[in-house]
This record gives sequence, structure tokens and C-alpha cells, in this order.
Amino acid sequence: MNQLVARAVLRGLAAGRSCNRKVFTSAAVVEKPFDESASMWRGQGGFIHGAQWRRAMSTAAEKESAVAEKDRKGSGVAEKKKEDGGKMVVSSYWGVSRPKITKEDGTEWPWNCFMPWETYRADVSIDLGKHHVPKTFLDKVAYWTVKILRMPTDLFFKRRYGCRAMMLETVAAVPGMVGGMLLHLRSLRKFQQSGGWIKALLEEAENERMHLMTMVELVQPVWYERLLVLTVQGVFFNGFFVLYLVSPKLAHRIVGYLEEEAIHSYTEYLKDIDNGQIENVPAPAISIDYWRLPKDATLKDVIIVIRADEAHHRDVNHFASVCTICLHHFLALC
Ligand SMILES: [Fe+2]
Ligand SMILES: [Fe+2]
Repeated sequence: MNQLVARAVLRGLAAGRSCNRKVFTSAAVVEKPFDESASMWRGQGGFIHGAQWRRAMSTAAEKESAVAEKDRKGSGVAEKKKEDGGKMVVSSYWGVSRPKITKEDGTEWPWNCFMPWETYRADVSIDLGKHHVPKTFLDKVAYWTVKILRMPTDLFFKRRYGCRAMMLETVAAVPGMVGGMLLHLRSLRKFQQSGGWIKALLEEAENERMHLMTMVELVQPVWYERLLVLTVQGVFFNGFFVLYLVSPKLAHRIVGYLEEEAIHSYTEYLKDIDNGQIENVPAPAISIDYWRLPKDATLKDVIIVIRADEAHHRDVNHFASVCTICLHHFLALC
């Protein structure tokens, strides 16, 4: 079973995709000056690779640079846009601007924090009940660390799951960034490729950040919660950084158990939506575009896809913990 998970994860890593991105379909088109990449987009079943996008971006930028230079010699600023409140916003600089991207319905793509090819449909069929039984000493340390960490969060948030999810997502996005950063530095030091792990971990961090961007649309943090996030982030980032240097195996195992707890919390969240204690409000627009949800999607649909993401993070991190030899030597296969 572990081997099956391992192979599935590694196939994803080798393809340069996020572990939690299973289905890719066309959700948007890119207009001129992005024609070339738009055909790649359609030609590959709706998916354009990040590297292709970056290459296309630089090509588009070069073309636009020539036009911009011709039109506005010496100004440096290519285009200005008027925003609400009368403030002028620079939308292009020295020809480096975002190409016009539209959705399938012809409306403009509204997000800068993610692009259409970064959207996906979550695999909600994933096994939510999977649990790594702690066997080794390190497993037990990781398991009980997470159980102990859960106690203060239970006391503080009780059943305020919206608030709880928003606050915990500020922490959940840290491990992937720390792990990805440290592996990135190791790749530079050792003149070695990463075997896909850097990208996988950074994409996990980005996915967690999108969870936060969604939750913050639903629950606005108050001043003392912002203060708490500052404190927790300062402690957690540095603590996890040191832990990852000492034992990536333990660090990934802890994240695996944290993800198991996240699945549990989101399941309880869904129960409260089902029994009417939490209102099933319409899904935020950002979540509809990011997870390709139907336009009439609700909070419940959003929580279901976030929970599926957490289950993928759980599998990747438990796998990374088992296969630390892959991490240490940047092997795509053990
Ligand atoms: Fe999350
Ligand atoms: Fe997660």
C-alpha cells in the first residue's frame, strides 16, 4: 500500500504537479499577446506547465516591451490604470505586465495570486480515514507532540471552526515553505537536482495559503487573533526550521499527524454545517475559481475540497517521512 502511495506521489512529483491536483480541464483562455501559450494550454488538455508559462511570460514581455518602448519612450511606466478612489495604479512597468486572461465565459480573470492553470478539482474520493499507526520512537514523539499541541487549540477555539480553520491555516502553510526552502538551499550547495521535492513542498505551502485566503473571506480576524498569529508564526517558523535541519523525518511525520488532525477538524466543521449550527453561506468567489466549483457552491462544498487537500498533504508528508533517503539524496525513487 505504501508503495502504491509512493509511486502515485512520485509520478506527481516527476510530472511537476502538486500532489493534490488530480484533474485538469480548461477553465480559462489567455488572449493576446499570449496566443502561443494559449494553444499549448488547449493542446494539452487544458494544462500548461509552470515553466512553459514562465517562458511564455518572458516572450510576451519581450513583445510588449517593444511596443511599450515605442509608445512611451523614457517614461519607464508602460500603462496606468484608474482604480476606485481615484488612485492611479501602475499595471505595467518596462513592458513587464500580466497578459489579459479571460475565463471561459469571457469575463476577465480576476486573480493575481493564482492563474487558471493552477486551479484544479480536488480529489474528494481520497480515503479520509487513513491513519499512520505510530511504530518507531520518532513516530510516537511526532504523534504525541501533535496530540499535545491540539489541547490548547481545543480549549481556545472550542467549536468555533471557522475561526479555528482560519488561524490554523496560518500555521499550516509554514512547513512546506520551510522544507522547500531548505531543500532548495541543499540543491544549490550540492549541485544536485531536487527530484521534484522542492516543487511539491512549495506547492503544498501555496495550497495551504489558498486555504487561508478562502477562510479569511468568511471569517475576519480580530486584533488579538492577529497578534496571536504573529506570535505563533515567530515561534513555529523558527522551531520547525531547526527541527527540519535536525530531523526532516520527524518534521514530516509531525506534519503528517497535523494533517490528520486537520481532516478531523474539517469533518467536525461539516457536522456543524449539516446540523445548522454554522450557516451554509455561498462559497467565496476565490474558492469557486481555485477549486473549479459550480457557481452556486456553498461553504460546505468548500470545506469538502479543503479537507480533501489536507488528506493529500497527509499522504505526502507521511511518505516523505518514510522516504527521507529520497529527500536527503534528491532521488525521485527510493
Ligand atoms: Fe489547509
Ligand atoms: Fe494541509
